[in-house]
Amino acid sequence: MLPLHQVLPPSADITPEGHLSLGGCDVVGLAEEFGTPLVIYDEGALRDVARAYRDALDRNAPGGEVIYASKAYFGLAMLRLAREEGLSVDVASGGELYAALHAGFPPERIHMHGNAKSPHELDEALAAGVGTIIVDNLDEIATLDRLAGARGVRQRVLVRVTPGVKPSTHSYISTGQLDSKFGFSIVGGAAADAVARARAAVNLDLAGLHCHIGSQLFDLSAYPAAAAILADFAAEVGGDDLTTMDMGGGLGIAYAQADEPASVETLIETIVDAVRGEWGRVGLPEPRIMVEPGRSIVGRAGVTVYRVMATKQVPGIRRYVAVDGGMSDLLRPMLYGAVYESLLANRPDAEPDGSVRLVGKHCESGDILISEAALPTAALGDLVCLPATGAYGVSMASNYNGVTRPAVVFVDGGQARLVTRRETYADIVARDL
Ligand code: LLP
Repeated sequence: MLPLHQVLPPSADITPEGHLSLGGCDVVGLAEEFGTPLVIYDEGALRDVARAYRDALDRNAPGGEVIYASKAYFGLAMLRLAREEGLSVDVASGGELYAALHAGFPPERIHMHGNAKSPHELDEALAAGVGTIIVDNLDEIATLDRLAGARGVRQRVLVRVTPGVKPSTHSYISTGQLDSKFGFSIVGGAAADAVARARAAVNLDLAGLHCHIGSQLFDLSAYPAAAAILADFAAEVGGDDLTTMDMGGGLGIAYAQADEPASVETLIETIVDAVRGEWGRVGLPEPRIMVEPGRSIVGRAGVTVYRVMATKQVPGIRRYVAVDGGMSDLLRPMLYGAVYESLLANRPDAEPDGSVRLVGKHCESGDILISEAALPTAALGDLVCLPATGAYGVSMASNYNGVTRPAVVFVDGGQARLVTRRETYADIVARDL
């Protein structure tokens, strides 16, 4: 049995030569062909999760919408795939909006987010005719109303509400609590005020509420807790025009072998049961239910492959293995203390030989990919694969130390296609005048 199969894409296997394979492609061959660090997505796995979301929502709440949170990975190939699979898309900036339009998303399937949208970004969204803008503060409501009026259009909006629910996850990715930079809080009346202002705005059509309580959630109880608060709020402000309830994203994935995330089906059933039950309790008709997953669509489908560039033993302390990437392509360990597993792509069967510190190539002591990695004795040229790097890896990548951002390939049925070329040194200086 392949080690770490719980965190690798489901197609992961071992070739007759004893190499790791993904989507029927030998990972050692991919590293040779496309170079390292290399981000590899299993296209079949991406499509399967997208379909699982669509099927689960269609079954439980027909008419609902699955909105892919593109911040998790906004490569055009992924955006096209999400479009083909019938998902809508969440964009959080003018740049993500540009990418979504470039990928051919019909504007009505685009949902525009952001806690600090510029008037320019709002106007870009209006010009494109995006379906929904999720308003996040009072100034934005006034600005958007004015800009829509100037264009002679009416814009559909949702009001982003913070229900005051604190899910169990890292504080940097927890958003539903009262003390948050996102949205209008129910406590204190800000959300009621926002609903009143949106209703009064002559060029805006208030269609409902939005709520995203946090990310990388294993314990789903925060969703019913939020739904109860949201239903009370909808009843309080008179919910007849609040026909849409967007419950955000947040489903966790397994980064470590011991992690046990809920399934997509369980998430959708939990959300639909909660919204249906709570809206019934307060006597309002069931709204159209939307979900906005990012990580759980792309996270497990992607891996990053690095090549070992240096090893050293600090006597009496530990062994270091240094690879050709690091915090410039995977910031999550440094930013959130995220823990990843690792294996050698050229010898996936090899038994781990104690614990090593897997580090990147950046000029930072904190550039530690895995503090205590269970790896076999790795030597120069070995290929280290980190599973479950598909979400918030390349989308949060940088050029720190002038390092070029990795290439991305999609694999499926034994075929690999390059979807994002590796950056070049010329790219590094291209914007400097
Ligand atoms: N909707 C909204 C409004 C969001 O802000 C987010 C994520 C999502 C949906 C998607 O959430 P997901 O299904 O991916 O949990 N960089 C961090 C995650 C930041 C999440 C930001 N918002 C990380 O690497 O863990």
